Amino acid sequence: MKTSLGAKTLLFPTPVLIIGTYGENDSPNIMTASWGGICCSNPPCVSVAVRPERLTHTNIMARRAFTVNVPSADHVKEADYIGIYSGKTKNKFAECKLTPAKSEYVDAPSVEQFPLVLECELFKDIDLGIHALFVGRIMDVKADPTILDADGSIDIGQLRPLTFSPSDRGYYALGGFVGQAFDIGK
Ligand SMILES: Cc1cc2nc3c(=O)[nH]c(=O)nc-3n(C[C@H](O)[C@H](O)[C@H](O)COP(=O)(O)O)c2cc1C
Repeated sequence: MKTSLGAKTLLFPTPVLIIGTYGENDSPNIMTASWGGICCSNPPCVSVAVRPERLTHTNIMARRAFTVNVPSADHVKEADYIGIYSGKTKNKFAECKLTPAKSEYVDAPSVEQFPLVLECELFKDIDLGIHALFVGRIMDVKADPTILDADGSIDIGQLRPLTFSPSDRGYYALGGFVGQAFDIGK
């Protein structure tokens, strides 16, 4: 028999996403978010849950745009810093020696050093409780050539995304390939 753990936010794996926004005077800001993921295929959408007290919440509501950046495991310290301190008191780009880059399609900055970015326009915002759910319509995805394989597909082994465990609050790397989807189950 399984042990009941109660009504909690326990799901695995959760991503480590870095949300890029512009604030007042076009100041670029970044925040770490683990409550997020793809939520529609057509139109392509990604959702991220952000508490109203975050600077990121104010910025997304004002500019109606954000980026979802995926750092690799090399940047775990920066990802944690970006999730500890608020842009209200710190210039997180400067403190982490990261470079803001203009997006091609949306009014939000990406992080030059992080290998994958989804450029999003705010599509829906939904008040859920202590988090607001922002659904972003993905206008473009940009990938560093170093994470692409010979076919131009993203190689997860090169990307090396982080996952956050809501259980022990640890950062983990992903394990290896275990099978081909829509095939191994035939
Ligand atoms: C691993 C990790 C995951 C986080 N996930 C979220 C999240 O999904 N939603 C949220 O509102 N805050 C989340 N936070 C907290 C924010 O990143 C943090 O409050 C940050 O300082 C907000 O920055 P801002 O005020 O510059 O927007 C997370 C923090 C960490 C370290």
